[in-house]
Amino acid sequence: MHIGILTGGGDCPGMNAVIRAVTLALTSKQGTRVTGIRRGFLGLLTREVLPLKRETVAGLLAEGGTILGTHNRCDPFHYFAAGGADVSGLAMACVAELGLDAMVAIGGDGTMAIAHRFAVLGLPVVGVPKTIDNDLPLTDRTFGFDSAVAVVCEALDRLGTTARSHSRVMIAETMGRYAGWIALEGGMAGGADVILVPELPFSVDVVAAHCRQREQRGLATVVAIAEGAYAQGGALTVQATLADRPDPLLLGGVGHWLQQQLQPLVTSEVRTTLLGHVQRGGSPTAYDRVLATRFGWHAAQLLRAGQTGRMVALQGEDCVSVPLSEVVGRSRTVPVDHALLQAACGIGVSLGIAVPLGTGRAT
Ligand code: F6P
Repeated sequence: MHIGILTGGGDCPGMNAVIRAVTLALTSKQGTRVTGIRRGFLGLLTREVLPLKRETVAGLLAEGGTILGTHNRCDPFHYFAAGGADVSGLAMACVAELGLDAMVAIGGDGTMAIAHRFAVLGLPVVGVPKTIDNDLPLTDRTFGFDSAVAVVCEALDRLGTTARSHSRVMIAETMGRYAGWIALEGGMAGGADVILVPELPFSVDVVAAHCRQREQRGLATVVAIAEGAYAQGGALTVQATLADRPDPLLLGGVGHWLQQQLQPLVTSEVRTTLLGHVQRGGSPTAYDRVLATRFGWHAAQLLRAGQTGRMVALQGEDCVSVPLSEVVGRSRTVPVDHALLQAACGIGVSLGIAVPLGTGRAT
């Protein structure tokens, strides 16, 4: 058996841990070869490969990023560099030339959608859900999310001490695209006083009132805001539109926007930190190393059993698999009645909405 493996979309802590686990699990039996495809699906067009042996993946567990490189602008079914042409046939020819029997595609929603299209063309493929955003459906967790939350938590701890020293309102903008998971869990872990997520459009007046109440009690305020959050009646803050990507909107900047709105409404100085790609870099947490390893091993099991066209997933404590067809075109945002939102609200964290969840009191 000869298996190809690629990493697509934005990088994320734990990608190398999956590559390691897949390689170790598959090469534990004689007769199986693993070949890495460089730079996501682009490598299937440029024929850039890296043979993966047990020695190649030694020491990879804790290493951030991906040794294969990645690319979030290459969809062979709509190849921008060729005017949007469908060049999937070239990729399939590369698969045949390399003698690959099946592929493992590690990535987020864009990668899973492309993997599904290849599966429909007849390529046996297994997907592994990666993204710091934690927004893939049918899995309780994607690997990388826990690492991002740990970064946000540490950043908020640090921002908290400087906020309290200067009696300031300190805004931290997190990643997460259209989902508030990173801001919510990172915000809770880092003790944010205000958490703003895309799922609950916020009111600037409510946030300002919360900051003022805290000022009156001599307290600083730390705000965790997701990049996809927006004010009631407002719109997403878009940093750039990148036409050649599956999702052309590059979000970012809502933290600075909020600072401008908030400053005239509060007494304290307001400062903003854009956490940015720091959330995506570096070594995976212990949790992500374990999850990535479980996912990689499970993907190898599926390949051996010939169960392809599926994505591995975590449901409860169990590693399971779900059809790629059911993953495509859906995303997993924070349900507005989610237990974490309720808990945050219950301890007095403002969600920027006039009537807090379940309490009927204004916050
Ligand atoms: O999907 C992960 C993610 O980090 C998002 O949270 C963020 O909006 C986006 O990637 C940024 O992507 P880029 O690598 O293009 O800056």
